[in-house]
Amino acid sequence: MNILRRGRLQVKQDEDIMHFTSSMEADMRIFDADIEVDKAHVVMLKEQGIIKDSECSTILSGLEKIQKEGISALDTSYEDVHIALEARLIELVGEDTGGRMHSARSRNDEVATCIRIALRTELVFLLEEVHALAATLVKTAEEHRETIMPGYTHTQHAQPTTLAHHLLAHANALLRGIERIKGAYVRTNQNPLGAAAFASTGFPINRERTTELLGFDSALSNSMDAVSTRDFMIESLSSFSNLMTDLSRLAEEFVLWSTSEFGFIELDDRYSSTSSIMPQKKNPDIAELLRAKTGTVHGALMSVLTICKALPYSYNRDLQEATPHLWRAVDTVRSSVRMASGIAGTMKVRKEKMKSATGIGFMTATELADTIVRTTGIPFRTAHHIVGASAKTGKNPTLSGLDELSLKIIGKKLSEMGLSEKAVKKALETMENIKKREVPGGPAPKETNRQIKKLASDLTIIKSDIKRIRKKIDKAREKLGNTIGEAA
Ligand code: ARG
Repeated sequence: MNILRRGRLQVKQDEDIMHFTSSMEADMRIFDADIEVDKAHVVMLKEQGIIKDSECSTILSGLEKIQKEGISALDTSYEDVHIALEARLIELVGEDTGGRMHSARSRNDEVATCIRIALRTELVFLLEEVHALAATLVKTAEEHRETIMPGYTHTQHAQPTTLAHHLLAHANALLRGIERIKGAYVRTNQNPLGAAAFASTGFPINRERTTELLGFDSALSNSMDAVSTRDFMIESLSSFSNLMTDLSRLAEEFVLWSTSEFGFIELDDRYSSTSSIMPQKKNPDIAELLRAKTGTVHGALMSVLTICKALPYSYNRDLQEATPHLWRAVDTVRSSVRMASGIAGTMKVRKEKMKSATGIGFMTATELADTIVRTTGIPFRTAHHIVGASAKTGKNPTLSGLDELSLKIIGKKLSEMGLSEKAVKKALETMENIKKREVPGGPAPKETNRQIKKLASDLTIIKSDIKRIRKKIDKAREKLGNTIGEAA
């Protein structure tokens, strides 16, 4: 007999309705967390004198057994893991004792607590993975401080830069991604347990105790808010989406750079596929999928936002529909980050190709205009006019050519105003262009070196932060284990 429906409802649901309603599949993700929540709750109930010591130890031993059996041993005709687990407990230890576990609790606070516990673990893994990717990019940048490459705007050759500068741009974006995930973690690691259905409970529970036992940083302070909100999910998903957009741009560059047209990199065989018909093909499928999976994660964010939109307070079953999107997105973002690390860490850089591409498209034009401003004192806009006219001729700029144009445009020769042949030559030198740009953030090797050092030290701090977060969770788990050991 169904322990949930037997009182109020007489008619049995058919398979189709049960399947439509059930969250059992997605609940795989929270099975371990649910056992942990049950244990912490039961220990607290005992400590508060709400259940007897003997009842507590019987329930705990039943939970241990269920944990060992695994979720597959649960009766899937129940609508979710929480009630199926309770039913199994009652089957094992009898209703007189097992039926006391759900005192002072609802599935509403229970499920919110479980999701937060499972999600925070995923967030810590993700933080470690993004850290590893950023470290790979910084390390590769270190090897390519002097590797010249074209920088683009509008996908057109713009100004020369270095591969280090380009990779560090992506690394900086990842560091902000880490900050966003950490922010989501802070607001995820708060305890809803004790909110019960929404109105809390008349039993003298101790919310601080379950907060401590479950390793939460604090308890959510309003019981209605605690069961109603999924904003922590939305915030996490939004940090994933932002990150995936960043990764998709990196992936897109891997794809572009590995084309014959660019030829800047060659992807490792592991991160390549081939064609079933064209034997010569080496395709960047992993990077393409990375690009595509961004859509999956954005979709998950949109789904959860839309599911939660305009829901009246407090709990509604709609919320169940949000959770699978979260897990899909978590899996997708984590594996995507790992793939990006793998691609970046194994790709071969074709320095010569990058360098020769830098000679195309008059990318030193800006520096030439700047040089004219510095040597002659004419306004930048006027120098821009003259150099633009020079570019239009399609010929290599020379002092006499520039003089000819300036005579037409401003009625004066630049050489008579202080521009020398030597200055023109220097302005057209690619590495000179790069070296000149040593203001903070610029591509000059000296400056990128400083950026690399700063990022490396930021990454060290982030690493110890992640360690601290992980340690706190592990410690709480250990403490819960010990407390259970004493209570059992
Ligand atoms: N499976 C449900 C969910 O994911 C658990 C909470 C059910 N609560 C309820 N009142 N029906 O949201």
